[in-house]
Amino acid sequence: MASRVIPVEDFDLIIFGATGDLSRRKIMPGLFRRFVAGQMPPGARVIGSARSEMTTDGFRADIRAAIAEHDGPRADHPQLDEFLSRLDYVTLDATDEGTAEPAWQAIRDKMRDGVIRAAYFSVAPFLFEPLARGLARHGLAGEGIRIVVEKPFGHDLASARDLNEMLARHFDEAQIYRIDHYLGKETVQNLMAVRFANILFEPLWNAQYVDHVQITVAETVGVAGRGSYYDGAGAMRDMVQNHMMQLLCMIAMEPPWHFDPDAVRDEKLKVLRALMPVEAGDIVHGQYRPAAGMAGYGEDAGNAHSRTESFVALKVRLANWRWQGTPFYLRTGKRLRARASEIAVVFRTPPHSIFDAADPPRANELMIRLQPDEGMDLKMMIKEPGPGGMRLVQVPLDMSFAEALGAEGAELPDAYERLIMDVIRGNQTLFMRGDEVEAAWAWADPIIERWASSDAPPRPYDAGSAGPAEAAELMKRDGRRWREMRG
Ligand code: BG6
Repeated sequence: MASRVIPVEDFDLIIFGATGDLSRRKIMPGLFRRFVAGQMPPGARVIGSARSEMTTDGFRADIRAAIAEHDGPRADHPQLDEFLSRLDYVTLDATDEGTAEPAWQAIRDKMRDGVIRAAYFSVAPFLFEPLARGLARHGLAGEGIRIVVEKPFGHDLASARDLNEMLARHFDEAQIYRIDHYLGKETVQNLMAVRFANILFEPLWNAQYVDHVQITVAETVGVAGRGSYYDGAGAMRDMVQNHMMQLLCMIAMEPPWHFDPDAVRDEKLKVLRALMPVEAGDIVHGQYRPAAGMAGYGEDAGNAHSRTESFVALKVRLANWRWQGTPFYLRTGKRLRARASEIAVVFRTPPHSIFDAADPPRANELMIRLQPDEGMDLKMMIKEPGPGGMRLVQVPLDMSFAEALGAEGAELPDAYERLIMDVIRGNQTLFMRGDEVEAAWAWADPIIERWASSDAPPRPYDAGSAGPAEAAELMKRDGRRWREMRG
């Protein structure tokens, strides 16, 4: 089943921070894949901008190298030269208003009137303001202009509010696309399809039938190479406040009245506002130490005495009718045993078993795998085949998206590809609204403040393990356990 590709309207997209890691690793290779798929119309252009002094030819060569590095199979693609010919480059140091004027003029001249125009802020947060101001001063903030803002969106509630207010001085909310790339992942979108396009799960999707939900985002990578950012953030700010909260919203939200950006985001906001404060005993933070030939966090982050957490496990409760009594257990960390992101919805066991006590039915589980091997499976009890009497066994009903969609659909689009095309299409459904970001910070801030004011350091865990033992304890004391961490 090949997916349909509908070309988007003609556009000019300027990427600030175009020579940076995210642009080279995700944005540019993603645009090239959309180009090859036929989704970029013939006139569409991408203007790179960064501080580096570079010609347009130099930029094209750099992006050719980036595609070779990050999307090897497409490095020799016959359409690569044509794609590169759509790229342009302007050197801009946005912090220096004195010298930036000619560069802004060049940008103004290159951004055509009459096409969709978007500006992607793939830069450090301190540049958001000079860039927003620069765009506004040069007539690039009016109707029809969209801006894309990368995380981190603030480092606490106060800074996120300041950022929202600053952006609101130049742009309407309908022009602002705050990226959380987890929302662009195929399985996350599928979660909405599974929940709201089928009758099967929704009647059971509540505290009466769901025992608990587990959300795991485990990574094998450490923080080496981005220690200076990470050490000032930690897992709570880097993953929980944004990606994990968005996953939780997708599971916990009420059905929106329509698949419409504000209808969906209104429902997610209600979930974020229903988050209960997390008690100190319901959260464990950890930091990896050297093991199995891998360095510890202190060395990777370049800060031997750091108390920043590289792991968090917590129990989250929602104060609303649907989820009263169903905990959500979340865990995420770096340098863990496996790279595995998954959500497990664990249902309750049947209220009464008609079968022998030796074979009690086990709880159904809906497993939603984000990566690797996107897909879902539903664990069901069936009769063990054979003549040996009525014995029960639990088996998965497996649905791997790549397989289900057949050979042509086997390569699922990367989150960034999808999200950039949504910006051009003007669809904000998979982007965070300002009030959502603030609600998530309002919940996360007290947790971070409590760590900052306490003497208790993060619990150590071995690099390559499943995290600190206390994380397992968090579930054990509730008579539950984490699913095994497997990639
Ligand atoms: C980013 C975080 O937002 O998401 C990183 O800053 C993290 O620390 C990454 O590694 C994980 O994304 P993915 O798509 O690889 O799961």
